[in-house]
Amino acid sequence: ALVRPRVQDLAGRRVVVSAGPTREYLDPVRFISNPSSGKMGFAVAEEARDRGARVVLVSGPVSLPDPAGMEVRRVDSALELRDAVVGAALGADVVVMTAAVADYRAAEQSQEKQAKVAQEVVVRLVPNPDILAELGGQKGRRVLVGFAMETHAGVERAAAKAQRKNADFILLNYPTQEGTSFGGDDNEVTLVRPDGSWEAWPRTSKREVARRLLDEAVRLLPGD
Ligand code: CTP
Ligand code: CA
Repeated sequence: ALVRPRVQDLAGRRVVVSAGPTREYLDPVRFISNPSSGKMGFAVAEEARDRGARVVLVSGPVSLPDPAGMEVRRVDSALELRDAVVGAALGADVVVMTAAVADYRAAEQSQEKQAKVAQEVVVRLVPNPDILAELGGQKGRRVLVGFAMETHAGVERAAAKAQRKNADFILLNYPTQEGTSFGGDDNEVTLVRPDGSWEAWPRTSKREVARRLLDEAVRLLPGD
């Protein structure tokens, strides 16, 4: 087959991508998580690799195999994801946070399996660190990209997030879109900037979304 060579517009650049859900364990056999498949993040990592970048992919638990040609770090919890991403982000040119980071973790993690009781059970949760906001607080010349899923007031909420976290842009999607977002191979997103400007992209493959995302990131990269 004829393989169309890709533009090597990320040659010599370092790209960090987070993907998948996190797991917040309550005890050794139970956790709080979400249905993120990791497909969007893996597509961004593969696209960046094919455009010449040195890629670190930090992934929560997903069923996808390690992509070739990049460093893959597998993690479980938000705290582990944070350590891996913040470490890899030192010296990175672009950081893309597609991971669906759990907002909370159990205040106490039991080392033993909790037996069932007849009464109501109350689980106390504490907030996880906001990784994108932490990277935004020390932004430097890095391009920072986030993702957000919103059920309402999407553009406003995504713009406010981009501003609060000091991200260059956020790709917004809605959970209702048939065949997109969680688990699907397609995605339909709106690019939202911190100033509230936005651009709706047509529904397309996650790989094509990755391509357009990196086109935008390349435009924002400082020249040498
Ligand atoms: N994010 C992060 N660390 C967290 C939570 C979110 O880095 N603890 C990142 C996500 O990877 C995503 C972006 O922030 O790129 C937006 O995530 P979202 O859950 O929409 O933002 P939150 O600030 O958690 O807001 P919400 O209350 O709507 O969940
Ligand atoms: Ca959240």
